[in-house]
Amino acid sequence: MVEHRWAHKHLLSIADLSVEDLETVLAKADANFDEARKRPKKGDALRGRTVINVFFESSTRTRSSFEVAGKRLGADVVNISVSTSSVSKGETLLDTVKNLEVMRADAMVIRHQASGAPNFVAAHTRASILNAGDGMHEHPTQALLDALTIRRHFGTLSGLTVAICGDIVHSRVARSNAILLGKTGSKVRLCGPKTMMPREAQELGATTSVHTNLDEAVDGADVVMMLRIQNERVYGPVMASTREYSRTFGLNTRRLEGAKPGAIVMHPGPINRGVELDTRLADGARSVVLEQVEAGVAVRMAALDLCIAANKEIAVS
Ligand code: NCD
Repeated sequence: MVEHRWAHKHLLSIADLSVEDLETVLAKADANFDEARKRPKKGDALRGRTVINVFFESSTRTRSSFEVAGKRLGADVVNISVSTSSVSKGETLLDTVKNLEVMRADAMVIRHQASGAPNFVAAHTRASILNAGDGMHEHPTQALLDALTIRRHFGTLSGLTVAICGDIVHSRVARSNAILLGKTGSKVRLCGPKTMMPREAQELGATTSVHTNLDEAVDGADVVMMLRIQNERVYGPVMASTREYSRTFGLNTRRLEGAKPGAIVMHPGPINRGVELDTRLADGARSVVLEQVEAGVAVRMAALDLCIAANKEIAVS
């Protein structure tokens, strides 16, 4: 079989990737995952390269796992936190990026509150841009690490039923996952209160159905993925109270009984324990939330490696 060639110097959205691209990055990530469990040794695929994390929104998992991923490949990794950078003095996004570019950044990992910010930056720099979450748009490496976790459990990404529940309208995680799973042939059920459901929810992904009843969404599912309410993006009243939300849309042991016997529980983090997810389930045998984080390093290693290798504008001899 001829190996599929990855041709993307940027990773901006799942929508840009073909099924072959998904297979390429996931196969590479899968090998990284196994390797790291054996011995997390430092490689040299990105030795001499510089990766800069530019985060305009808070992050624990995504930023640290991009950092660990870059370092494990031998790159020098620099973190910029916006609250201590010149953005807080009024510098534009583009000026910030242009300045980092002349420091010979090979890749910039960008998280920004504006949907499309990484696409905008990508059009103005030679560096590879990796989207680490842009507003309510996409979070491609999160969907890839979720896909890797699911595939390692079920051996496939097709023919499964995946319920994604919570604040769908504000969730870049839900969008990227629905697009990815639609491409690979799994069914996606998006579930949440009407106030948290985008009008175009049905069109998100090729195989998506929309639900406002959690039991209906969980019924017979292989995967139940719970999402946090994105309070930082919520501007009006979307629910009566947290207690009421949790009673109607929170996942607990009794509700999970409706899913398939081998079903797994996922969450991208940060978890609001007791709101969308019962704390016993979060720590229980069906939960794979820490495997998701582990898969995150493996996926981000693969993404950095593939994008930098595909970037002819920054080729080093
Ligand atoms: C998600 C995000 O930032 O979109 N978190 C993450 O990257 N693991 C989800 C969230 O913040 O709720």
